[in-house]
Amino acid sequence: MPHSKIKSLLSTSPVSQEVTSKGWVRSNRTGKNVSFIALNDGSCLANLQIVADAQKFPKELLMSAQTGACISVTGKLVASTGSGQPVEIQADSIEILGASDPAVYPLQKKGHSLEFLREIAHLRFRTNTFGAVFRIRHSLAYAIHEFFHKRGFYYLHTPIITGSDCEGAGAMFRVTAMDLKNPLKTPNGDIDFAKDFFGKETYLTVSGQLEGELGALALSEIYTFGPTFRAENSNTTRHLSEFWMIEPEMAFYDLKDNMRLAEDFLKYLIQFVLDNNKEDLEFLNKMYDSTLIEKLRFVTQNNFRHLTYTEGMDIIQKSGKKFELQIQWGSDLQSEHERFLVEEHFKTPVILTDYPKDIKAFYMKQNEDGKTVRAMDILFPGIGEIIGGSQREENYEKLVNRIREMKIDEKNLGWYLDTRRFGTCVHSGFGLGFERLVLFATGMSNIRDVIPFPRAPKEAAF
Ligand code: 4AD
Ligand code: MG
Repeated sequence: MPHSKIKSLLSTSPVSQEVTSKGWVRSNRTGKNVSFIALNDGSCLANLQIVADAQKFPKELLMSAQTGACISVTGKLVASTGSGQPVEIQADSIEILGASDPAVYPLQKKGHSLEFLREIAHLRFRTNTFGAVFRIRHSLAYAIHEFFHKRGFYYLHTPIITGSDCEGAGAMFRVTAMDLKNPLKTPNGDIDFAKDFFGKETYLTVSGQLEGELGALALSEIYTFGPTFRAENSNTTRHLSEFWMIEPEMAFYDLKDNMRLAEDFLKYLIQFVLDNNKEDLEFLNKMYDSTLIEKLRFVTQNNFRHLTYTEGMDIIQKSGKKFELQIQWGSDLQSEHERFLVEEHFKTPVILTDYPKDIKAFYMKQNEDGKTVRAMDILFPGIGEIIGGSQREENYEKLVNRIREMKIDEKNLGWYLDTRRFGTCVHSGFGLGFERLVLFATGMSNIRDVIPFPRAPKEAAF
């Protein structure tokens, strides 16, 4: 008999119909006459109650359907007489699909710290918290495709292995097939990458943007959604070494169009979760952040505040607040400054634009003042920067000059520069850090708790 997901059983009217449910036992209260088994299959937060009459089943069977075991139950779906659930299954047959010894099963009913659960990330999916987080993560991923598809954007797969360093950041993971104990050398003793797998130096990508621009200058509006890698030694609750990024890139968009799209996009995604993940949000609101739902609603209902970097810096400096790092015009904002603007000063998401060119990437559109570029960062409460983007420099000469000024190897960028030689146009794009979005939407406080298997400095278990 095909089995039903618990989510659908819980919303089915019970008329004693025969149903089968499969899942993992969360708890088992076996008394003299009856066993109550709480079953969860991850389809929703709630468990399904299984009632097993002690007369009908051997005691050993009931005793082995313990916390952690995987079972299949067939029986009648009836209205539950107990409070707490609309329906329950009165079991006619129970099969143990996979036994589990509760004495050594790491997940106990008492609840565990998030730190402990990170150590057993292979099992943490089976907790209410991680079930809720990963269902919301899924909803957001789905909504991202829906948003762009509805607007006629095409999903473009950009490469994961790359020969270029998009951001000029230099913090990349090398990809090689060489024998590291015995690498091939050139006559002057350097490693001979010409003899490596790709015949050149290659890395894991930090961003799909440059390739995305090539797509946009033909398909008009594209987006990427893939893993990106950064070898920075940033051990914070907001940084991962492997994270997923969504990067739309649009021909004929200037910075204003880009800002509008980004704001609509974030609001759409958050509204999607409010509409589709109510039960999970209520759980996380109760357990981790009592302002979560209020914060999500706030973002969907209020306009983001727009100001330039220079205006933002002015506010920071005049605030008189003691920051850990005092900054001035030209410095990059640290998360403490971003969060001050958003959480204390404006109390609403902020889009900062027109940053000094020296703290931004080479490809950003240069402003007439010669000092700033048409960059935009979106800053969110509790998160800091959630989106980074810009209008792109579409002028060939200006772009090449900037590449030279920044001492970037233009040899590797000929393909990128070709877009500015053949039919260039005004275009813009941005990158949304997917885990930072999930962090915001779930109210969790550590980015390691919103990706199934986090990669961070000294952290690559599983
Ligand atoms: O600001 P970033 O570095 O921008 C880019 O990579 C551009 N190429 C995007 C574009 O214009 N197409 O990164 C974009 C976003 C950040 O705003 C942040 O949300 C996230 O990616 N991010 C990280 N998330 C987790 N861990 C890290 N180490 C991150 N670094 C950036
Ligand atoms: Mg950035």
